[in-house]
Formats: sequence, structure tokens, C-alpha cells
Amino acid sequence: MIIAVDGPTASGKGTIAKALAAHFGLPHLDTGLLYRAVGRQVALNGGDPDSPEDALKATDFPDAMLDDPELRNEATGALASRVSIHPDVRKALFERQRAFATQPGGAVLDGRDIGTVIAPEAEVKLYVTATTEVRARRRYDEMVASGREASLPAMITDLEARDARDSGRKDAPLTVAEGALVIDTTALGRDEAIATAVEAVEAAN
Ligand code: C5P
Repeated sequence: MIIAVDGPTASGKGTIAKALAAHFGLPHLDTGLLYRAVGRQVALNGGDPDSPEDALKATDFPDAMLDDPELRNEATGALASRVSIHPDVRKALFERQRAFATQPGGAVLDGRDIGTVIAPEAEVKLYVTATTEVRARRRYDEMVASGREASLPAMITDLEARDARDSGRKDAPLTVAEGALVIDTTALGRDEAIATAVEAVEAAN
């Protein structure tokens, strides 16, 4: 069984994907990390994230990079969103994601284009979303809780820019896949959101 979980930043898709993987005993891939690794590598190379050549070169990041805590910060997220626009970067990361999705026994993947491009045949497709204000507030609270500096208005501006880039790009834009169940987590607590997703998967089987 392939479970595709797509949605914008801080919608709760990562939390839901991880919980589904644990609940159903499936391996999980956070595909955003791959784009974040490319963004970080382009910066380490001194390259330009908006240059298709520089971004493509950065797709040969070392595997160990995926464990780098720097990948989780907002600056790397913004770089990821810029490098992910380039079709050659998406092509270079496709096989790795496709192989993970089609491994025997199934898998859970979360990202922006899992249900549309990476695994359109997924048995379960979820699109997890929430209002920009609620997503920004969650990200802000996370940062403050981990002792980092944050500004809520700046967070809202950044999320809006990232959403516009992810939804507006030509190649694999963020969109609700055909047949996807939309889960709006704006008014849902963590446990309620997870329970809704578990029910959706059970209903599909
Ligand atoms: O999900 P996360 O915020 O970690 O993703 C970082 C960026 O990587 C996104 O803003 C998006 O531009 C890009 N991405 C993508 N396709 C995916 C996963 C992430 O384009 N499947």
C-alpha cells in the first residue's frame, strides 16, 4: 500500500505521515528533506539556487547531509523552495522517491507532488492543509520552543512566498491530487488530525 501525503509547509502533513507509518508499520520518506539537502548543498557550494545548473550540481549531496539539523531551519526551507522549481532537479530526485514508493510492502511519502507525480497510483492520497495564520503560528511556536528567534509577521510573509512559489511553478506544482481526501487541520488538534488520517486509510482498504 502506498500512502501519499501532500500539502503546504507546516500543515501537519509530516506529523500525519510519520504517525501513519508507525500505525501501519510502513517505512516513511519526508521528500522535503531531499529538496532541503539540495538547497543546503547549493549554499555550501557557493552556488546560486536560482541557477538551474548550480541547483542540478547540488543534487549529488552526500547521504549524510540528510541528518544535518541545518536542513530543518527556515532559511534552508526557503532555499529548497527555490531549487525545487528547476525541472532537472526534480528529475534528478525522481528515481530515489519512486524506488522508495514502490518498495515491496508499501510506504508512506510526504511532500508536494507525491499523489500527482511520484506515485499517482497510490491507494491512499491525502492533502493536508490549514490557514496560513495557523501554519505560521505553529512554526513560530516550534521555533520559540526550541530557543530560536522568530517573528510571526515575518513567518507569515515567508510562508506566503513559499506557498506562491510551490503552487505557481510549472513543473509539479502543489495541488490537490485527483481522488485525494482533503484534511484541514486548522481547527484540529494533533491527535484528531492523526485519527482522521488513520480512518481514511482504513476506509480505503
Ligand atoms: O516539506 P518541506 O517544507 O520540508 O519542503 C521544502 C520545500 O521543498 C518546499 O517548499 C517545496 O518547494 C519543496 N518540495 C517539493 N516537492 C516535494 C517536497 C518538497 O517541491 N515533494
